[in-house]
Amino acid sequence: MGANAIVVGVGASAGVGGALCRRFAREGLHVFAAGRTVEKLEALAQEIEGLGGTLTPVVTDATSEADVIRLFDTAEAAAGPPTIVVYNAGNNQFRPLLEMTAEFWEGVWRLCCFGGFLVAREAARRMVPAGGGTLLFTGATASIRARPPFTAFASAKAALRALAHGMAREFGPQGIHVGHVIVDGGIDGDQLNSRFPQFKESRGDDGMLNPDSIADAFWALHRQEKTAWTLELDVRPYKEQF
Ligand SMILES: NC(=O)c1ccc[n+]([C@@H]2O[C@H](COP(=O)([O-])OP(=O)(O)OC[C@H]3O[C@@H](n4cnc5c(N)ncnc54)[C@H](OP(=O)(O)O)[C@@H]3O)[C@@H](O)[C@H]2O)c1
Repeated sequence: MGANAIVVGVGASAGVGGALCRRFAREGLHVFAAGRTVEKLEALAQEIEGLGGTLTPVVTDATSEADVIRLFDTAEAAAGPPTIVVYNAGNNQFRPLLEMTAEFWEGVWRLCCFGGFLVAREAARRMVPAGGGTLLFTGATASIRARPPFTAFASAKAALRALAHGMAREFGPQGIHVGHVIVDGGIDGDQLNSRFPQFKESRGDDGMLNPDSIADAFWALHRQEKTAWTLELDVRPYKEQF
């Protein structure tokens, strides 16, 4: 039993999920990494062990209530209540509104919002009796600005942000630091680079967010003294227009 982190939405090493796992492991926390692909999680576990940390892969679909409860039960049995929980899962799916099926809209909402609720509720259920913890959410430009063809994504990310704001007010006085990080720009990781390889070149040097630098911001939130907590911060490349 000891300090531990649960990161939900972990895939490639080159991504925010991978970077959060590396950062928390570097600080001595045991990490439970939750994503859908066992090969990616096991590769990350090996990478982190090579760096001197420890990581347990837990295959989880963040939109499944049973999976999320099982993830938290597994982590608690092995390591006690969570010190840090991050809801990082999200997919920047987009489509013109007239081409959005009901299934598409609901699928975006399930991953970008509903999964956040499932994870945050399980976190709070364990952090409240423990008397504290840090609960963080990964936001996006779309959390505060709806632009077509990202309307479904924006509606779900805005709702995730509202979940974070509501939970901060409900659980802050119980010692839980809730934070929402607006990632305002393209992330230099597998998700974007594999789907839109030309994007990186169009942005030029340092035109995208480095996942490890984003992870630094999450760690800084966790380290804040409780007399000066931040609910929301934004991060963007220095050359981003906003
Ligand atoms: N990429 C960008 O440019 C960008 C910009 C602004 C904000 N964001 C936000 O940043 C976060 C992700 O960062 P990232 O783009 O660097 O990606 P990432 O952290 O590398 O990847 C997130 C991982 O979530 C996993 N995932 C997807 N659906 C899941 C589900 N149902 N249950 C559990 N895990 C699931 C995926 O792995 P599996 O497929 O293996 O499950 C994926 O690899 C998201 O919240 C996103 O909205 C991204």
